[in-house]
Amino acid sequence: AIQRTFSIIKPDATKRNLTGQIVAKFEEAGLRIVASKRIQLTLAQAQQFYGVHSERPFFDELCEFMISEPIVVQVLEGEDAIAKNREVMGATNPADAADGTIRKEFALSIGENSVHGSDAPETAAEEIAFFFSGLELVG
Ligand code: CMP
Repeated sequence: AIQRTFSIIKPDATKRNLTGQIVAKFEEAGLRIVASKRIQLTLAQAQQFYGVHSERPFFDELCEFMISEPIVVQVLEGEDAIAKNREVMGATNPADAADGTIRKEFALSIGENSVHGSDAPETAAEEIAFFFSGLELVG
């Protein structure tokens, strides 16, 4: 079925001017960018977005990283968009990511891993609503 998923191009990637190359990977995979904006998160916003990870040992490092530079938040639409995006991103740890994936080509480490993507339909809906109003989604 046609789905929407939420994506972040993370600070390590925007800083290295990789936004276009990452968007090209999404589009080549058949994912359509139906919303997109470049923003810089506040610490409170990063902590809220990653609230599910608040007890993890890497939480503070993750939030500090996510506010260190601008990010690009996007909504991607397509057939099985959530799974397709996860395939294009590759494994969380770039050391485990398959050839041709975004994280294999661009990620620096498990933390500085260039992209975030929703892991399920419920989280996709929540994450999209966190950053976008309905008016900003243009299919
Ligand atoms: P993301 O999909 O954005 O969701 C949570 C993030 O936590 C994950 O991608 C990783 O970038 C980050 N993360 C996971 N494990 C570690 C770790 N051991 N050290 C630092 N960051 C991590």
